[in-house]
Amino acid sequence: MFRHAAFALLFAFGCVIHLSRGAVVNVRDKDGKLCLYANVMLNFSVSYATSGNKTDLAEFELPSQVMSNGSKCDNTTSTLKLNFGAGHSWSMNFTLNGRTYQADSITFSYNLNDSTIFPKSTLTDTLSVSVRPHITDVSTDTSYSCKSKETIQSDSVNQTLWNVLIQAFISNGTQSKNLTSCSADLPTTPTASPTTVAPVTNTTTASTPAPTTPAPTLPTPTTGKFAIKPDENSTACLLANFALRIGVKHGEKYQEINLDPNVTTVSGSCSVNTSELLLVSNAMTIALTFTNDTKKFHLQAVNVTANLSSGLVVSEANGSLSLWEAAVGSSYMCNKEQNVTITSQLNLFTFNLQVQPFAVKKGVFSTAEECFLDSDLSFLVPIAVGVALSFLIVLVLLSYLIGRRKSRTGYQSV
Ligand SMILES: *[C@@H]1O[C@H](CO)[C@@H](O)[C@H](O)[C@H]1NC(C)=O
Ligand SMILES: *[C@@H]1O[C@H](CO)[C@@H](O)[C@H](O)[C@H]1NC(C)=O
Ligand SMILES: *[C@@H]1O[C@H](CO)[C@@H](O)[C@H](O)[C@H]1NC(C)=O
Ligand SMILES: *[C@@H]1O[C@H](CO)[C@@H](O)[C@H](O)[C@H]1NC(C)=O
Ligand SMILES: *[C@@H]1O[C@H](CO)[C@@H](O)[C@H](O)[C@H]1NC(C)=O
Ligand SMILES: *[C@@H]1O[C@H](CO)[C@@H](O)[C@H](O)[C@H]1NC(C)=O
Ligand SMILES: *[C@@H]1O[C@H](CO)[C@@H](O)[C@H](O)[C@H]1NC(C)=O
Ligand SMILES: *[C@@H]1O[C@H](CO)[C@@H](O)[C@H](O)[C@H]1NC(C)=O
Ligand SMILES: *[C@@H]1O[C@H](CO)[C@@H](O)[C@H](O)[C@H]1NC(C)=O
Ligand SMILES: *[C@@H]1O[C@H](CO)[C@@H](O)[C@H](O)[C@H]1NC(C)=O
Ligand SMILES: *[C@@H]1O[C@H](CO)[C@@H](O)[C@H](O)[C@H]1NC(C)=O
Repeated sequence: MFRHAAFALLFAFGCVIHLSRGAVVNVRDKDGKLCLYANVMLNFSVSYATSGNKTDLAEFELPSQVMSNGSKCDNTTSTLKLNFGAGHSWSMNFTLNGRTYQADSITFSYNLNDSTIFPKSTLTDTLSVSVRPHITDVSTDTSYSCKSKETIQSDSVNQTLWNVLIQAFISNGTQSKNLTSCSADLPTTPTASPTTVAPVTNTTTASTPAPTTPAPTLPTPTTGKFAIKPDENSTACLLANFALRIGVKHGEKYQEINLDPNVTTVSGSCSVNTSELLLVSNAMTIALTFTNDTKKFHLQAVNVTANLSSGLVVSEANGSLSLWEAAVGSSYMCNKEQNVTITSQLNLFTFNLQVQPFAVKKGVFSTAEECFLDSDLSFLVPIAVGVALSFLIVLVLLSYLIGRRKSRTGYQSV
């Protein structure tokens, strides 16, 4: 029984070695065999909100001291998870498809409550971002190697990886000496190197010209604060704060337009079952209709009329949506960039969103229900407690095991 527990924990926590440069992790399977090896160097650059409406940039390195709990190997999937500092983690998921494997996602979670990295942060939550790494078509029984720097950008986080050596599926317990190098490391001739695949660019277009790149990226739109009052002497019955951008497809063209709250006129209405917010600016008219279905409310309808730069006026509407749902009496909040598809021709992007279309008391927002993108904290709290407890158990077990290992000679620890 005790032996089983020890194996299970070893399996979950893997084995970690600290080197002066890079984080090195050896993950072992149920039978104690090496099944995943990783050596990575990684820099983070995170922008976060500080008091006084400012954003600061936190730049830090992945320390060489990491815990690999949460890492695991299976026949066709494996996970590398590096936990470091005060509640931060970085993980990568791999899948094996026949003769090759690939990394499907990188998830980086950072704890804004860590004031050594994020001084004066207004939020104390743990946020996470997921990005798609460019690690594909790595031959089985080879290690993926990339000495070159690669920066993966996402909303408010940039991750720079270099000196990466990872073997995600190790079949016979020993790391392979053969490498699959990333294309950035290869001398020249980018042809016939299936080792990395750019995220968007279609590399197979030899005859057809590459599709024209979408319009240059706009700055993040300004956050507007909109309120509807039933009459001029009352407090607000509908509150909405957000920054908004629309993406409109028209034929072959795609255009994004930011809502400028500075030149937007606000109108609307509140009633028991539906509330409406109508925003009219030079570039667009947008109507948001919210529905109260007894206990919850949601955004039911969106109607956007946009004046495209070409002079065309495009109107897109969808009346059967079910977005931004929260309990009546609370508000809905989503600080992260949210991309929602309204119609096949129209996408809505929101930032720093908080809305309350019903039951506003004293003209201020009630308790917020945060969107999935924001609310990682809620489920991390019990996990953090669990991890802390299991860490204690593991410390005890490890010292026991190390004691046992030391008493045996000839046992090689990796
Ligand atoms: C990583 O960050 C450290 C400290 O922030 C910096 O000294 C180093 O140059 C960075 N390395 C790369 C490759 O960006
Ligand atoms: C934050 O910015 C908004 C608009 O950008 C402004 O109205 C508000 O006064 C600012 N608050 C502080 C504390 O500076
Ligand atoms: C690794 O390289 C050696 C020598 O080039 C070769 O014999 C062997 O088949 C390779 N193994 C794999 C898995 O590619
Ligand atoms: C990420 O990199 C881009 C391009 O260099 C830069 O514009 C952006 O400010 C960076 N973001 C962060 C959070 O460092
Ligand atoms: C690349 O473009 C070709 C021709 O336009 C298309 O058939 C193919 O599906 C594209 N591949 C990817 C990965 O987008
Ligand atoms: C609002 O209050 C002002 C002065 O208190 C009053 O003159 C006006 O009639 C009121 N308006 C409404 C719509 O009640
Ligand atoms: C809003 O408009 C006023 C005057 O029209 C201008 O002074 C101000 O800078 C604008 N603010 C933003 C955020 O564009
Ligand atoms: C929401 O709808 C229910 C049922 O129609 C109603 O009882 C309740 O008062 C409404 N809530 C608000 C805030 O209008
Ligand atoms: C609101 O909806 C409820 C139930 O759907 C209905 O009974 C009620 O009459 C509606 N109220 C108004 C003002 O439309
Ligand atoms: C959307 O708004 C436009 C103009 O305000 C209007 O003509 C159109 O009928 C609306 N569409 C829907 C489905 O409500
Ligand atoms: C928004 O989402 C749609 C559908 O999921 C996707 O096609 C589009 O690329 C996304 N846009 C951005 C800017 O992320």
